[in-house]
Amino acid sequence: MKISHLALATALIGGSLTPLAWAAKPASEPVGPIQPAKVTNPKLVELGKKLYFDPRLSKSGFISCNSCHNLSMGGTDNLKTSIGHNWQKGPINAPTVLNSSLAVAQFWDGRAKDLKAQAGGPIANPGEMAFTHELAVDVLKSIPQYVAEFKTVFGSETVDIGKVTDAIAAFEETLVTPNSRFDKWLKGDRKALNEKELAGYALFKNSGCVACHNGPAVGGTSFQKMGVVEPYKATSPAEGRSAVTGKDADRFNFKVPTLRNVELTYPYFHDGEAATLEQAVDTMGRLQLGKQFTADENAKIVAFLKTLTGDQPSFRMPILPPSTNATPRPKPFE
Ligand code: HEC
Ligand code: HEC
Repeated sequence: MKISHLALATALIGGSLTPLAWAAKPASEPVGPIQPAKVTNPKLVELGKKLYFDPRLSKSGFISCNSCHNLSMGGTDNLKTSIGHNWQKGPINAPTVLNSSLAVAQFWDGRAKDLKAQAGGPIANPGEMAFTHELAVDVLKSIPQYVAEFKTVFGSETVDIGKVTDAIAAFEETLVTPNSRFDKWLKGDRKALNEKELAGYALFKNSGCVACHNGPAVGGTSFQKMGVVEPYKATSPAEGRSAVTGKDADRFNFKVPTLRNVELTYPYFHDGEAATLEQAVDTMGRLQLGKQFTADENAKIVAFLKTLTGDQPSFRMPILPPSTNATPRPKPFE
């Protein structure tokens, strides 16, 4: 590790290994570019988009998926922990939905195997949207335009939670963020990154960050302990992966978060306690690798991380079909 790091740094300074030459072997990079979404069923995606933005899937009629995974703000709420029904304080930080289709599993502890399995959770979670699947389906059934749209997409008028979560998951699969400056560099555009950013990437690779943060999402490929070298004192009661596996060895293992768009997804960590990227990088260096970065090294890594911001989802705001006289009324204060 040390030798290759030195060799790389020297090569970069000396210019003998140009970024282009380096990028010419993308197969050897621990991070791959994000591929644009391939939409095979645009009508399903369009329905999913409406449902993602529809607050009538919550008891209050006020909270939608977008309330906590705001697509204008990197797919997060930028809060330490989310605000749920009746202004309840959530127990854990909301991860971004951007590129979440690339992860091995969903949630910090991976308790949902995929996006479809995940999407039913928040609707019925009393601390989030506080509804039930039946009531959410009743609302949709009372709106003829929705019923017609389900019929067009699924070929039958029955509305059920399985179709709702299919549609939301299909929309979420489109929420990938290709074309970051780092991806342009990976694909051979040598001017896409400056020297400081490249030095940050070299530090990121050679310090060992890539052991956990790898793959196209720069994370999301495994569950790892938070606090490998030094323990982490979390402010959240979350136990991590052991809540799913029941194994003590998995205590405080969390899904390695994606670092794509990390510039936008502050605050950091499952308890949201790191307010800045500098703080998060410093904590990672010390707790995961036993390494105290200098201010200069930290700044370089942060500069690299900011090159991971890709094209944000771009689409027309969905206009939701109006409720009818038969639509159950929202209960915002119960
Ligand atoms: C009240 C805020 C809130 C609402 C509303 C909400 N979420 Fe979440 N979401 C969270 C939090 C908090 C987590 C992390 C929970 C955990 O890991 O235990 C999460 C996790 C997720 C994840 C997993 C991401 C990952 O990297 O593991 C996805 C995907 C997701 N939500 C999608 C949705 C969808 C779709 C909806 C609407 C049906 C929705 N959320 C509604 C707060 C919210
Ligand atoms: C042993 C595995 C491991 C190593 C090595 C590692 N990380 Fe992490 N990283 C994690 C895990 C797990 C989390 C989530 C921890 C939590 O939230 O409690 C995380 C979280 C982060 C976050 C916060 C992301 C967010 O959205 O909350 C950043 C930034 C980060 N790591 C950067 C780095 C950098 C930079 C390095 C190298 C200096 C590094 N990591 C090394 C496993 C690792």
